[in-house]
Amino acid sequence: MIDALDLLRDKRDGKPLSREQLYWLADAVISGAAEDAQLGAFLMAVYQRGMSAQEQAHLTLAMRDSGTVLRWQDLPGPVLDKHSTGGVGDLVSLVLAPMVAACGGFVPMISGRGLGHTGGTLDKLESIPGFCTQQSESSMDALLRTNGLFIVGQSATLAPADRRLYALRDVTGTVSCQPLIVASILSKKLAEGLQGLVLDIKTGNGAIMRRHAEAEALGQALCHVAVAAGLPCSALVTDMNQPLASSAGNALEVAMAADFLRGHSVPERLREVVFALGEELLQVGRLAADAAGARAQLEAVLVSGAAAEYFARMVAAQGGPGDFMERPRSYLPSAPVQLPLLATEHGAVSNIDTLRLGEAVRNLGGGRRQLHDRIDAAVGISDCVQLGTRVHRGDRLLTLHAASETQAREVLGSLASAFMITAEASPPAIIYQRLSAPTSSQEKRIR
Ligand code: URA
Repeated sequence: MIDALDLLRDKRDGKPLSREQLYWLADAVISGAAEDAQLGAFLMAVYQRGMSAQEQAHLTLAMRDSGTVLRWQDLPGPVLDKHSTGGVGDLVSLVLAPMVAACGGFVPMISGRGLGHTGGTLDKLESIPGFCTQQSESSMDALLRTNGLFIVGQSATLAPADRRLYALRDVTGTVSCQPLIVASILSKKLAEGLQGLVLDIKTGNGAIMRRHAEAEALGQALCHVAVAAGLPCSALVTDMNQPLASSAGNALEVAMAADFLRGHSVPERLREVVFALGEELLQVGRLAADAAGARAQLEAVLVSGAAAEYFARMVAAQGGPGDFMERPRSYLPSAPVQLPLLATEHGAVSNIDTLRLGEAVRNLGGGRRQLHDRIDAAVGISDCVQLGTRVHRGDRLLTLHAASETQAREVLGSLASAFMITAEASPPAIIYQRLSAPTSSQEKRIR
C-alpha cells in the first residue's frame, strides 16, 4: 500500500518514485487525501532532488489522468497545437492556429490569460466583441469538427491536479522547478488529446527564461518527456530581447494578426517565427515531408486567403461578428490618447528593455496586477522600432495608446530609458536553436 509519508521519505532521500506512487499522489491531490503540508514538502523535495525523465513522464501522465482527457474521434487530419513560454507582442497563436487548420490540421487550442508582463491569447481574443473563450466539451467537439480549430480557456476538468499543485508552488518557492514546470505544461497539453505539439521557448530580457541555457534545458526536458509520453514534439528557442511584433496590447495585437492573415505587411521577425513554428508543426503532424514543403503550404494558405477564412469562421463560431475579417478595426476598441516616445539622440537602437515595455502595457491597464483586475483591451504600444534600427533625435521609438493623457505621460516617463541608442548596433538572431527529443525517449515510451 502506498503511503504519503513513505513517498515523501523516498523523495527526500533521493530514491526514484514509481509510476504507482506518482499516480497515487495525483489522486491524493484531487481527493484531498494529501494535506497542503505534505504536498508542499513533496514540491520542495522535488525542487531539491530533481526528477529523472521517467519520473517526470509518470508525474505528467498522472496529472493528465487526474481529469478529463479529450478524445477526438474520426477526424480526417492530425490534432496539433503549439505552446509558448510567453513574451511581449507574441501574437503567434492567433495566426498560426488558423494557418495550420487551413493546411489540414485540427487545432484545439487551450490558452491562458496574461501572466505578469506577458500577454495572454484569451485576453487578446476577448477584445473582439462577443468572442467567448469558455466552451463546453460538446461545443468544443463541434467547433473542431466544423471549423478545424478553436481557442478557449482552461476548463476545471482538464488536469485538475495541476491547479492545486500550481497554487501550492506559488506559496512554497517552487514555481521555477523544471520538472514541475514540465509536468504542469505537458499534463494540460496531453489532456487536449493532441497528436503533435510544437514549443516556442523564449529567451532574452522579455522572457521568463532570460538565459539561453535555461531555455534550452527546459525545451530539451519538455521534448524528452512529451515524446516519452507518446506525444510527437519539437521546440524552437527564439529571441525575446525585443517585442516580437511591433505592437503589444490586446486589440492592437488582434489588429496585427488580422493584417498578417489578410496579407498586409508585418514585421519580418514575426513572420519568421510563425513560419518556423508552422514548419515544425506540419512536419510533427506528418502534413509535410520536409521544411520546404511545409513552408510552401503555409505560404499558399496565406496567399489564397484560406487562413484568413479559418480565422473568420472561428471568430463567428465563438460568438464574434460574422464579418470581422472584412473590417477588423471597426470592431476593435481604440484608445482615446496616443502619444509618441521620441529618440533623444542619433544612432542605432542597441538595447530594448522588453520587460519594461511589457510592464508598461500592463500598467496602462492591458494586463493584470491581480487575478480579478479588469483589462482595458484598447491600450498598449505600437510602431515599436527594432534592434539595429538607425534613428535621429526626435524620431518615433514607439506610440503609446492610453486611456488618459495623465496615464500616458506617467507611463512614457517610465519608458524614457527603455531604449539604448549607441553608434552601431546589429539586430539579434530570431531563432537560436531547434530542439527535438533524443531517440531514447521514443524507445522508453511510457504509458
Ligand atoms: N505554464 C504552466 O502551465 N505551468 C508552469 O509551471 C509554467 C508555465
